[in-house]
Amino acid sequence: MQTLQSSSRDSSTAYAREDWKSGYLSQPEEFAYWVDDIEGEIPLELSGTVFRNGPGLTDINGYPLHHPFDGDGMISSMAIANGKAFYRNRFVRTAGYVAEQKSGKPEYRGVFGTQKPGGWLANAFDTQLKNIANTHIIYWGGKLLALWEAAEPHRLDPQTLETFGLDYLDGLLKKGDAFAAHPKIDPDREGAARLVNFAVKPGLSSTISLYEFSADGQLADQSRHTLPGFAFLHDFAITPNYCIFVQNPVSFNPLPFVIGWKGAAECIQFNPKQPTKIVVIPRSDASDAQGEVRFFETDSCFVFHHANAYEQDGKLILDSICYEKFPTLEGASDYSEVDFDHVPTSKLWRFTVDLSTAQVDVEVLVERICEFPALHPQKVGRPYRYLYLGAAHSSTGNAPLQALLKRDLETGEEQLWSASPHGFGGEPLFVPHPAGTEEDDGWLLLWLYNAEFHRTELAIFDAKEITAGPVATLKLKHHVPYGLHGSFTPTYFGPDSDAVA
Ligand code: CO
Repeated sequence: MQTLQSSSRDSSTAYAREDWKSGYLSQPEEFAYWVDDIEGEIPLELSGTVFRNGPGLTDINGYPLHHPFDGDGMISSMAIANGKAFYRNRFVRTAGYVAEQKSGKPEYRGVFGTQKPGGWLANAFDTQLKNIANTHIIYWGGKLLALWEAAEPHRLDPQTLETFGLDYLDGLLKKGDAFAAHPKIDPDREGAARLVNFAVKPGLSSTISLYEFSADGQLADQSRHTLPGFAFLHDFAITPNYCIFVQNPVSFNPLPFVIGWKGAAECIQFNPKQPTKIVVIPRSDASDAQGEVRFFETDSCFVFHHANAYEQDGKLILDSICYEKFPTLEGASDYSEVDFDHVPTSKLWRFTVDLSTAQVDVEVLVERICEFPALHPQKVGRPYRYLYLGAAHSSTGNAPLQALLKRDLETGEEQLWSASPHGFGGEPLFVPHPAGTEEDDGWLLLWLYNAEFHRTELAIFDAKEITAGPVATLKLKHHVPYGLHGSFTPTYFGPDSDAVA
């Protein structure tokens, strides 16, 4: 998820607030073209397609959304081969997008507080969710799927980004079923990669469904578990034996949502006096998993995203981005007016869970504002050395993500590259070099919004040396509003790349 953050005193010169805000402007147009404005050179060994999802609209025909998370999902793709790149973007044709583009006004309430016109009476008792398909996009088992955690995935054509419609995963999901937006790929399950994902049905107690899919997209395993209490679960982590969740200390009072005053996510109440729980669920086909679902209490904090987890000497190591409390707009009338100095900060924490004594140790690994962790795909669930993050330009104070941070978890050494003052980033993607032998042999792909020219760029870094700056910057002809999550597939989904001179 994109975080809403801005300057404190010592970072106030890193960027201008108007620059930051202009990256949220709607992009209603759809494009498809060869990128001809490239600074540097695209590495010839880099071949495949980058997909990215995020809200493409922050207004509906002039009606502003209360929060960008309520914006319709728009997919960008960059197909790269032979040193050339083809860009394309298209909106996911969700039922809500199609209906609202036709009527020219909001027809649904947004989870993050967007209301239909007409005041609270027009919104009261309308608890229908709009499946906005705006959070993540993955290519797995021959399917390109746009994900939004509270409803079914939408399937798209990887070549044209045309929407085929809702995808029920070969009958696994029923109408209205959830499917989380943060699947993890286990790089080696009995010799092959496997996609692991979850779905949560929150309530007085919360039900977690776990699904595992083989490389051809077939269901390989599933299980279901019940947790006491309301659970807001956006992401999780996996190891060879476990799926790990963080149950944030929050409760949910649906009344203001039901009567039409607030969006559902605005009814989440953070309880700082309650502990955060680390929930450890054995994978049902795991060889060494011990027993039942276990809960481990730790310091109160709020987590959207996990970096990674692994098992070592009877302990579980979990690296997560932690906020001191649930990040809300803190009374601001909408997201663009939020008082950033009062928004909770996000830092990288390491939880070490002793599975035999239930002792949990907490260490802050990165004090600088950071979010959207990325790592080598072969290291998911395994001991790892390098982590890449979107980070603030300044080492202290709350601010937007303008920098790329590489952290060596063995030595503590850090490398930083910043796009300040006019550039704003987000989630990096690590793509391994096809002939690579070391963990940081590869590239980091980072979508940047350049406010100086009101356009978006895809920056490609040599992951070994990010401080040197991008080896190539692919400049789009327009901007793309700040995105959320994306993925890379080594399959090239562009036009015939020899056809272009
Ligand atoms: Co997310």
